[in-house]
Amino acid sequence: MSRIFSGVQPTGDLHLGNYLGAIRNFVGLQADFECIYCVVDMHAITVWQDPKQLAPHTREVAAAFIASGIDPENSIIFNQSQVTAHAELAWVFNCVARMGWLNRMTQFKEKAGKQRENASVGLYVYPNLMAADILAYKATHVPVGEDQKQHLELTRDIAIKFNNDFETDCFPVVEPLIFGEATRVMSLRDGTKKMSKSDPSEYSRINLTDGADDIASKIRKAKTDPGELPGPEALAADGLHVEGEAEKARPEAFNLLSIYAALSGQSMAVTLEQFAGAQFSAFKGELADLSVAKLGPIGEEMQRLMASPDHVDAVLRDGAERAAVIAAPVIKEVHEIVGFLGS
Ligand code: TYM
Repeated sequence: MSRIFSGVQPTGDLHLGNYLGAIRNFVGLQADFECIYCVVDMHAITVWQDPKQLAPHTREVAAAFIASGIDPENSIIFNQSQVTAHAELAWVFNCVARMGWLNRMTQFKEKAGKQRENASVGLYVYPNLMAADILAYKATHVPVGEDQKQHLELTRDIAIKFNNDFETDCFPVVEPLIFGEATRVMSLRDGTKKMSKSDPSEYSRINLTDGADDIASKIRKAKTDPGELPGPEALAADGLHVEGEAEKARPEAFNLLSIYAALSGQSMAVTLEQFAGAQFSAFKGELADLSVAKLGPIGEEMQRLMASPDHVDAVLRDGAERAAVIAAPVIKEVHEIVGFLGS
């Protein structure tokens, strides 16, 4: 049986990258699969979070899930710290994963930077907790943006090593689901950098709670290049993907075009046809209108939900109860496999 699991950190300022790379894809998967969507507050504290902000930020992610179209009756929405299985399984995985595997994680290197000695141990073992999130439910498919690919490879390695070491077939080998026209949304100020919450410039990203004026002005000020918009000649031989070289030469142009394609629900090929030879000023006007039309209602619904914290908290509590029921037998099975007495 297929089961979907994914998570988003409540670190504030959810942005267009989170939406197009992940949350929007979560919505579509509900029709065909059992889905579990988690606000990963335990991952968030691997870097400092103001305790007064963590609860509102947790509600913000839950509100974004619901406002984007995830149905909490049908799918499970909860925050990680309410289900103890995540921490319990993460400890077992700390003893399965190898130091060498974690040393290769590029996200740790990026986040720890030159302060490696001063980074939290939690940040280092972050991918083991992520593997525990997924495997506590024996989830089989994980929708994420491209930046999480390496972490999911580690999840696969952990499942395989656990199964081999203990001569079991307890855990599935998960498949990443990385799809859509915007699996890696780039900064609006620099097309070579990922759109991210940690970028100091507000103009680098569109936040899901931005109003129409902010969305339009951020798009108007987005970095471009002096050329006209490229056409379908930028596509690779398969006609499906933009040629890597074309994208490298004009990262800002292709980033804005892929945002347009993703928001409009049309392919990159059709989008390139539509704007071939256009001026950036005209294209930006259309992109701003489309962004406001698609993101405006989501932002408004998020604000409405965040004004009813009790309602959001009840959704998270209910989701946590349902999640715990699924995880409990998996934890019991793991205890038996490992040889813990008393399970
Ligand atoms: P996080 O909170 O950084 O991001 C949430 C989701 O948004 C995607 N994303 C992007 N996609 C496209 N372009 C971007 N610029 C962009 N920025 C972020 C991410 O790929 C992600 O899918 N480690 C995870 C959270 C996590 C998780 C899990 C995910 C914890 N446990 C288990 C899946 C399964 C993270 O930091 O996501």
